[in-house]
Amino acid sequence: MKARIVAVVNQKGGAGKTTVAMQLAGTLAKQGRKVLVVDADPQGTASRWAASAQDEQPFGATVISLAAAGGKLHREVKKLRGDYERIVIDGPPAAESPLAESALLAADLAIVPVIPSPLDLWASIGIKAAIERAGDINEKLQAYLLINQCQPNIRLARDVMDLLGEFDLPVMRSRLHQRTAYRESAVFGQVVADLGHKAQAAIQEMQALADEVEALLSGEEA
Ligand SMILES: Nc1ncnc2c1ncn2[C@@H]1O[C@H](COP(=O)(O)OP(=O)(O)OP(=O)(O)O)[C@@H](O)[C@H]1O
Ligand SMILES: [Mg+2]
Repeated sequence: MKARIVAVVNQKGGAGKTTVAMQLAGTLAKQGRKVLVVDADPQGTASRWAASAQDEQPFGATVISLAAAGGKLHREVKKLRGDYERIVIDGPPAAESPLAESALLAADLAIVPVIPSPLDLWASIGIKAAIERAGDINEKLQAYLLINQCQPNIRLARDVMDLLGEFDLPVMRSRLHQRTAYRESAVFGQVVADLGHKAQAAIQEMQALADEVEALLSGEEA
């Protein structure tokens, strides 16, 4: 077993890194994969998420914090590669941080969740340079934008499309909409699939995201 590694990064706070990392890891775990979440954020949100789970329904993936590893994170992650099929790293809200740089050195795939509004996109653009720097060293690194918190049934405005283009990164076909199911499942240390039928729309879009991630990791055209 040699885990494929996904890093969820963005320098902008609150763009949805932890939401994407935990929902993705939990969804892959439900499919029967052995998944590790590496909490690379000193705020420890991913660790708290998993700790909020009830004994009778624990979070499906293992979650450990390696925030103390700083710029040595990638070395620590590589040591764990033999024990898991997928490792998902939840990055800190800073592109310049040694933790973010190191997460990008370890990753096969970087996902940058972005909120499709001009203010949020301006605040996110710093991750572009960090991804370019990491890509010079880590040649296998693929990086994609993931549109998060978009409003259902509303098309992205022209200025948002233009700003997305400034990242010079491909955009994932999957999108996550703004839905209470994402917040609600976090409170109970779960993923949207645990909420059952009422969260059907969120369950479907998370499934599509997990499928797209798997296709990218296996080198298929997504
Ligand atoms: N698609 C969504 N629909 C509804 N709420 C969302 C969605 N994505 C994220 N949120 C909410 O937005 C807030 C910020 O999300 P999250 O904590 O995942 O971002 P983050 O990038 O990890 O933040 P930080 O930079 O502080 O680590 C949380 O309250 C989360 O529940
Ligand atoms: Mg977070």
